[in-house]
Amino acid sequence: MARGSRKVSVIGAGNVGATCAFVLAQKKIGEIVLLDIFEGFAKGKALDMSQGGQVLNFDGIITGTKDYADIAGSDVVVVTSGFPRQPGMSREDLIGKNADIISQVGQGIKKYAPDSIIVMVTNPLDLMTYHMQKVTGFPHKRVIGQAGILDSARMTHFVADAIGCSNEDVQAMVLGGHGDTMVPLPRYTTVGGIPITQLLSNDEIDAITSRTANGGGEIVKLLERGSAFYAPGSAAAIMAESILNDRRRLLPCSAYLNGEYGMEDIYIGVPVILGKNGVERIIKLELEQIEIDSLKESGSFYKEQLKTILGY
Ligand code: LAC
Repeated sequence: MARGSRKVSVIGAGNVGATCAFVLAQKKIGEIVLLDIFEGFAKGKALDMSQGGQVLNFDGIITGTKDYADIAGSDVVVVTSGFPRQPGMSREDLIGKNADIISQVGQGIKKYAPDSIIVMVTNPLDLMTYHMQKVTGFPHKRVIGQAGILDSARMTHFVADAIGCSNEDVQAMVLGGHGDTMVPLPRYTTVGGIPITQLLSNDEIDAITSRTANGGGEIVKLLERGSAFYAPGSAAAIMAESILNDRRRLLPCSAYLNGEYGMEDIYIGVPVILGKNGVERIIKLELEQIEIDSLKESGSFYKEQLKTILGY
């Protein structure tokens, strides 16, 4: 790990935050701060991860803390704080509780890491990302939500499974909100460059898109307590890495739309280029009418929630 060059803070040392920090450590990304209101929890996990350094060949500083002053100088702050959903709950059922937490976290980031880029993970994702931008007042391109990478990775896995090929050769694209209204795009999902529409039947594709849209719920049901964290935490780490290393990866993320895709003043999943300035560019995909309608339906759903529940 490069010492002292770059710094990333992860707020929330629960399963998602700890997974994200651990993946970042293995990517030798720079100094890592893990912050949690339960100090021992953050310190214990940071120490445990640090001790994995020899085994997994990484060095450097991983600090556990409850003090926001320790995030000063962060280039990227990943926010995972909040309650996960339990069986029978939708992500939107978490709005009230998690909005209060995000208000507090946002104040801490605004005060101590005012130049950072924020990667949001807390659910309901698109709404909490919007809320975080309002709380901090950061430019929209510096507040981005993680969801599309996770949703696309889930689709990728199901496609690879159905075809019997490597995950590595599958590229999937899932847009829209991170919830029941998400919009998997089979036309933009390929295996070694071949659209899956040439490799799988319509019924197989329908089964994959609906399992993808319900991907988080399937795991919540299996776990019985809490929600997924390996893939979500890793997906957030990939976003942080693309920003910190200015890799300019093209990834689906929850980004602020100001007219793109015919929507305004909303955070929703679209393909973006992620670099050192955050959202470097929003990519406009050519969509069929039915795909545009699904995306807009997803946007309207969140717009309504922003207005009625969060009062925006
Ligand atoms: C999921 C949660 C983290 O999709 O939103 O698994």
